[in-house]
Amino acid sequence: MAKRVTKAVFPVAGLGTRFLPATKASPKEMLPIVDKPLVQYAAEEAIEAGIDELIFVTGRNKRSIEDHFDKAYELEAELAAKNKQDLLRIVQNVLPSRVSCVYIRQQEALGLGHAVLCAKQIVGDDPFAVILADDLINHDTGVMKQMVQQYERHQCSIIGVENIPRADTGSYGIVHGERASDGLHRMDGIVEKPKPEKAPSTLAVVGRYILTPAIFSCLERVQAGAGGEIQLTDGIAELLRQETVYAYEFSGRRYDCGSKFGYLQATVEYALEHPELNERFRAFLKSLRL
Ligand code: G1P
Repeated sequence: MAKRVTKAVFPVAGLGTRFLPATKASPKEMLPIVDKPLVQYAAEEAIEAGIDELIFVTGRNKRSIEDHFDKAYELEAELAAKNKQDLLRIVQNVLPSRVSCVYIRQQEALGLGHAVLCAKQIVGDDPFAVILADDLINHDTGVMKQMVQQYERHQCSIIGVENIPRADTGSYGIVHGERASDGLHRMDGIVEKPKPEKAPSTLAVVGRYILTPAIFSCLERVQAGAGGEIQLTDGIAELLRQETVYAYEFSGRRYDCGSKFGYLQATVEYALEHPELNERFRAFLKSLRL
């Protein structure tokens, strides 16, 4: 019987150097967009897609991520004593009760491929999602849900991609493939951060993947690549020699929240959509008369 996607891996061990000094002592995944940390948006996207096991690959300085998803006894007792029911609900509903979390420590920052490989024992022989929390994507139907639907139809690895300006290929994994249907491309190549003149297309991988467990043996064979790191991209290049892999052009607007500019864009868009803030914030932006 076909297996469902019920597990998601969140590689959260990165150093977040583009956001220093904010990320000196606290993880970039805990930066808030309006009132929720990036990692919670990522978890909610996974949960909306039917995933109920969240696997965080963490590193040093990442304790606050575990605390965020844990029960906060003192805070809850205090809010209950003061009868602040709305706030209590927010604190208690960070995760629905059916969802469980696992934390694995990546001892050394050896690359995204290595981080995913750290989850091998927990993932086992099932298809699984990978979500990079600093790529925040806004859409009525979350991107992971869109991708799970594609997975259920095709039963193969699905990589989330978007069209980017050619000048930017050096910041992404870039795929090559033949257009199939429904925004799908059957992949026949993928390279990590090629120069614009060398890039095989302008379809860039953003931080959403559904992978079959065959990726693990591929990653075990991969040597350090771009930037001296074990790249997930190189593992996928190996995987698509063995199995069908589709690139999927998702619907939604993506913000690179690992960069200051993307983070600010996301903050503005999410504030304009926030029920408590939208009217006042819109009026404020207008008052700036830019
Ligand atoms: C990673 C991946 C890259 C992908 C990008 C998406 O790069 O290695 O293939 O395009 O995430 O955000 P990083 O941004 O960690 O350098």
